[in-house]
Amino acid sequence: MMITFLGISIATLILAVDCYGDSCLSGINHKAMPGPEPGMRACKLYSQSSCCFSNYTEQLAVAPVTKVQNTYWNRCGQLSSRCEEYMKKIDCFYHCSPHTFNWIHPNNSHSVLAVPICQGFCDDWFTACRDDLTCTRNWISDWEWDDHGNNCRNECIPYHQMYKDGKDLCVNMWGATFKVISCPCHCLMMDDDDNNMIQYLIHQRRTPAPVEVLHREPMKAPFCQRRQTDLLERRERAKTKKESWHGSHLSTLKSGRCF
Ligand SMILES: *[C@@H]1O[C@H](CO)[C@@H](O)[C@H](O)[C@H]1NC(C)=O
Ligand SMILES: *[C@@H]1O[C@H](CO)[C@@H](O)[C@H](O)[C@H]1NC(C)=O
Repeated sequence: MMITFLGISIATLILAVDCYGDSCLSGINHKAMPGPEPGMRACKLYSQSSCCFSNYTEQLAVAPVTKVQNTYWNRCGQLSSRCEEYMKKIDCFYHCSPHTFNWIHPNNSHSVLAVPICQGFCDDWFTACRDDLTCTRNWISDWEWDDHGNNCRNECIPYHQMYKDGKDLCVNMWGATFKVISCPCHCLMMDDDDNNMIQYLIHQRRTPAPVEVLHREPMKAPFCQRRQTDLLERRERAKTKKESWHGSHLSTLKSGRCF
């Protein structure tokens, strides 16, 4: 009895340690460990537990943002404010999120690999940036670097020509950073609900459950229901405005078969 008890305690302990993976990536602006940063001027989503120092966010708290670290954001002209919002969300996630360590790249500790991002987020991002201009399909590999920072190698074209759709944008703009997930309950939206989602995802990764349980369980969580409701409302709005809709979301959603 005692031994079983101890076994469970140790398992719980390992799980807990693994769960929070109390570490940050090792980029030049990353802290060693996440911690509170009450003075953040941007990226406030992560202020309770942040992998960036609050002073990092000062350059993101100006309008418009023209340059972050040594990278100009305006090489094809100033981004629209709504497009810029998405650039900021991604930048904040990479530098400040306490969760990136869960997806650390096996070959370099300053990158992440295949972070699950929601199709809905990608679609919104694409819509926001549609008519903005860009010259780089991949912001990690396609710039020409010199003393003046990043320079275009190619001509500036609208996002909607550079990328086919939201998915194409998400899986190319930041190299292999993201993978796109259509089920809204198993992916990041870069919002408050991500915390809950990630706890669930990590728990699931550590304790493989029977397939049926996996399919049903997250659907009942409040954060997931909020996201489902949001998706349903979007579908209705798209229908009213006669916009295209990625219908497959809905059938997977309704059947609860997200994986
Ligand atoms: C930002 O703040 C941290 C911690 O207070 C400090 O170590 C770092 O040098 C600061 N960076 C800049 C660019 O001021
Ligand atoms: C990591 O490096 C190994 C050896 O070079 C390579 O085979 C593997 O594909 C790399 N992994 C990723 C995700 O790039």
